Amino acid sequence: MRFDVLTLFPEMFPGYLGQSLLKKAIDRNLVDVHVHNIRDWATGLHRQVDDRPFGGGPGMVLKVEPVVESVRAVCRKDTRQARVVLLTPRGRRFDQPYVERLSGSDRVVLVCGRYEGFDQRIIDILEPAELSIGDYVLNGGEVAAMVVIDAVIRLLPGVLGDEQSSVDDSFSSGNRLLECAQYTRPREYRGYSVPDVLLSGDHQAIAQWRKEQSFRRTRQRRADLLGHTAVNKEHIDESGTDEASRKG
Ligand code: ADE
Repeated sequence: MRFDVLTLFPEMFPGYLGQSLLKKAIDRNLVDVHVHNIRDWATGLHRQVDDRPFGGGPGMVLKVEPVVESVRAVCRKDTRQARVVLLTPRGRRFDQPYVERLSGSDRVVLVCGRYEGFDQRIIDILEPAELSIGDYVLNGGEVAAMVVIDAVIRLLPGVLGDEQSSVDDSFSSGNRLLECAQYTRPREYRGYSVPDVLLSGDHQAIAQWRKEQSFRRTRQRRADLLGHTAVNKEHIDESGTDEASRKG
């Protein structure tokens, strides 16, 4: 899968691209990420990429020519059909179903906004998907683009060691529950101990405990997700504890 990122701050990306799972995926040719500077397509003495909004108002607006020309030029760099995505707080909310949708594409072109937004003609001409990663305003779309790449590559075959791990992720299709509490060694730390059931070796009891934990957590924190879940609420034992039991 190929990603192209168009940004005014390409230097923000190498650190992120050089780390961890993404680096491994790139090294193994499962993913290709190309970062481009929109300013390279700006013309004029000052290579201006933004300007004041017509009609007045605060801030600057990204100009139509450099953005449209850069996206078109980048799309031509590969024969595969590209899905063009603009990162903007006024976009559709980016969620796991959308991650799954994007992971089925061969190519995604991510355009990072800055300043007060994009000249509307960019959207009229390119007809991109407009995506927001949440109801807050970032200084630009770069971090949002990293979020999109990070979430999508997890779903690509061969990227995660254990194929099952992304299937079990919270929010993936077929799992609309938050993940349950997890523990590793030591069994006890400063009076906080691991729940006995996890040490019992009883796989059925462990599975039931985890299901209950997930359900309880989801109900407390994200009750909105329960409208979608197939979990049989009758099976949830209301008396279980939520976190590690504290001794003494
Ligand atoms: N740019 C600024 N804020 C953003 C957000 N919440 N999502 C995507 N792009 C953005």
